[in-house]
Amino acid sequence: MRKCIAFGLCGVLIMAFVVLTQAQMSDKAQLGRELFHDPTFKGTIDPSKATGLTCANCHADFDETANPDGVIRAGHSVVGVPHRGEAKGGMIKGADFARAAGGGGFCYEHFLQRVPHDKVNPTAIPVEHAEALMAYFEVISGDNKGPEFEMAMLDKDAIKKAGEDITAMSGDASNGWQLFGRACVACHPTAKKAGIGPQLVRSRAPRNIDATMARWAGKIRGGGSLMPFYAPDILSDQDIADIIAFLRDQIENTAK
Ligand code: HEC
Ligand code: HEC
Repeated sequence: MRKCIAFGLCGVLIMAFVVLTQAQMSDKAQLGRELFHDPTFKGTIDPSKATGLTCANCHADFDETANPDGVIRAGHSVVGVPHRGEAKGGMIKGADFARAAGGGGFCYEHFLQRVPHDKVNPTAIPVEHAEALMAYFEVISGDNKGPEFEMAMLDKDAIKKAGEDITAMSGDASNGWQLFGRACVACHPTAKKAGIGPQLVRSRAPRNIDATMARWAGKIRGGGSLMPFYAPDILSDQDIADIIAFLRDQIENTAK
């Protein structure tokens, strides 16, 4: 009986704790959380420009190392963003850092609204949205510094070389299929079906399949217009070689 009372008390205390920690999420942070999952940004994005993508398509808002869910996201977790102080390899820093939602302002223009890379203004995101996103990142981060990674911006030649090096490796097509499912389906629903990205495997095989595979491997490492790049700590060279082996298999088994 005594145990039961103690247990009951504990339960009440736990409940109170949960309610308290939830109450700590300010209206601002709550708005940030909703924006993170909203392709319309509360209706402020012009429907003719929207891609349908959300921040959550490419970034976890939890600690993926501690609680992996198996999804491979092109961007790193936003846990730890407020501790970073700069983004895009130092291109966004100082007062611009918070104003650009820790770098998210770049993605807001480019990935949610198709603004071309060289036209993006990372501080064009409305100030109240930048503040809301940062407030949310602070709540989910606490002291957690988030993942450590290096940002290397690859130029055209480096992307070409990466593509050639990767296609020189041998890959495991069945592992590649699983990686494709975990990483690519938000935009390429299957290898044979177009989504935000184009249909990859068509009824007619590409004329020079080796050159095409090298170009594709480079595209995965380096990104494209709306296609995000995948850094080596997210997809290793071997991972990309496996995905290429899968796509090559699909081409050889379906296309003529
Ligand atoms: C199509 C994928 C995609 C979408 C959608 C996307 N991002 Fe990103 N984001 C990336 C990639 C790739 C990077 C660069 C790698 C990294 O830093 O994680 C990045 C970088 C970032 C960074 C860190 C920049 C740095 O270099 O430190 C932040 C913060 C961020 N994004 C927030 C957001 C927010 C907020 C949204 C929604 C408005 C969003 N992203 C939407 C792919 C995306
Ligand atoms: C956020 C959406 C998005 C994600 C996620 C994405 N892609 Fe793409 N992908 C695109 C778009 C859009 C294009 C076309 C624009 C371009 O080529 O730059 C494209 C182009 C490609 C191409 C080039 C096709 C061609 O014929 O030129 C390949 C190959 C490709 N994607 C493979 C992948 C693989 C593999 C993954 C997962 C590791 C992936 N994509 C993830 C959007 C995406």
